[in-house]
Amino acid sequence: MANPDRSAAWAAIAAQPRVPLLQSFEQDSERVARFSRYVATIHFDWSKTYLTPGLVEAFDALAEAADYRGKRAALFAGDIVNPTEQRPATHVAERGEGNPEDNALALARHKRMRSLIDAIEGGAFGDIESILHIGIGGSALGPDLIIDALGRDADRYDVRVLSNIDGEAFDQATWGLDPASTLVVGVSKTFTTTETLTNMAAAIEWLSEAGVADPYGHLIAVTAAPDKAVEYGIDESRVLPFGEGVGGRYSLWSSVGFSIAMALGWGAFEELLEGAAEMDRHVKLNDGAANIALLAAYADLTETQLRGAQSRALFAYDERLRLLPDYLQQLEMESNGKSVTADGQPLGRPSAPVTWGGVGTDAQHAVFQLLHQGTTAIPVEFVAVIENEDSMDARHHHLLLGNAFAQGAALMAGRKHEDGARAYPGDRPSATVLLERLDPRSLGALVAFYEHRTFANATLLGINPFDQFGVELGKEMAKKLDDPEGRAALDPSTRDLIARAGL
Ligand code: F6P
Repeated sequence: MANPDRSAAWAAIAAQPRVPLLQSFEQDSERVARFSRYVATIHFDWSKTYLTPGLVEAFDALAEAADYRGKRAALFAGDIVNPTEQRPATHVAERGEGNPEDNALALARHKRMRSLIDAIEGGAFGDIESILHIGIGGSALGPDLIIDALGRDADRYDVRVLSNIDGEAFDQATWGLDPASTLVVGVSKTFTTTETLTNMAAAIEWLSEAGVADPYGHLIAVTAAPDKAVEYGIDESRVLPFGEGVGGRYSLWSSVGFSIAMALGWGAFEELLEGAAEMDRHVKLNDGAANIALLAAYADLTETQLRGAQSRALFAYDERLRLLPDYLQQLEMESNGKSVTADGQPLGRPSAPVTWGGVGTDAQHAVFQLLHQGTTAIPVEFVAVIENEDSMDARHHHLLLGNAFAQGAALMAGRKHEDGARAYPGDRPSATVLLERLDPRSLGALVAFYEHRTFANATLLGINPFDQFGVELGKEMAKKLDDPEGRAALDPSTRDLIARAGL
């Protein structure tokens, strides 16, 4: 049964009046300041969301009833916060913000990773020019995002991230690489993932076909199951472990960030961690709406629970952040796409909406029609960077940022028109995240913000964000294909597709 305090808090939230956005601004001259925060050189403007002071108060009561403070303390203390798997979630310790023991362990693993990087840089593996990072899901999306965002001008190793099992992906990732000067990094928390192990086997073949005498000597493993990597044939000195408590989608801060450090340098990797730690401290020290992760979660829940939003869209008005929506899809949907509470009871209300998005201004000319005039209001998030670092004159950047701001204004203002096709309903919510500059520190803080927001949403809903049993059934079914009895047990449509494809 739902906790009665929580039920009362939800009832109070549902009873809050729905105030149109423009009216909220008219009623409150302090609205921008009230719903904006500045943390770790990032401006967060949540004033164009449906939040009202009354709603914030009602959500504060929910946070109290859901014991957000207690759950947050448990997260940072390294206590069990993933009850279905009886595990802590120790990603904050990777940033030095966990308990002293976990922090020390994370530091020792970072040191081990750094020694290997120093050895590679010092020529212990010959003349290495490129890194083929093989991993999938949380073992790929984080490094891919960070390297794509910050590694564009880096004059270091050419790092390619290979995830998909499609052979086309392998061909593309290895295109133009010289196997003799490439190190292959197999990244898998479990070291059992079919895609990663199959791509690693292909990489070993690729190395030996090119005449690399000791292909296994070109392999590095990053895993929470080091024994399996050693069993696989990778020398223990090239196995970089990370903790069982580090979830895949929260893992870029751990040894999983090896490729990040190879692409950007150790100093940049440390700054990334420091930026995340700054966000950790903000979240740790601030309660209620002063905590940006909670404030954002209050807005998220207003949209999904009171306004029926089934998706939320994020547009990066900066090419360097084009992979942010992909990264957030896993973080938010794998964490909070659940139908039961942490103790296995039916949730009884919507959980995570679909996260999707793209890059501005491209998206304006493709999907914004629906955002402005579609039948449901989809909350939009704009992410942009103030400092211009591209090589073009200021006009490009001026137009880029101006467009992001104009879209938010248009979504909210709408426009009346006697011809329905030309009318914009308006009153559509958006939030804006404005980074002063894009560097390792600010990107670390930004990603940590999204992690804490996901945790805040989960806590207020009563969900365990750290398991992901929903991904298992499809994997099991795929394995059934390999044995005749398993195939026979599949449904007729699937059997027919298998036969047509000649599998
Ligand atoms: O199938 C989903 C998943 O388990 C993710 O949670 C994880 O990030 C990914 O697969 C990769 O898993 P691993 O790191 O164990 O290879």
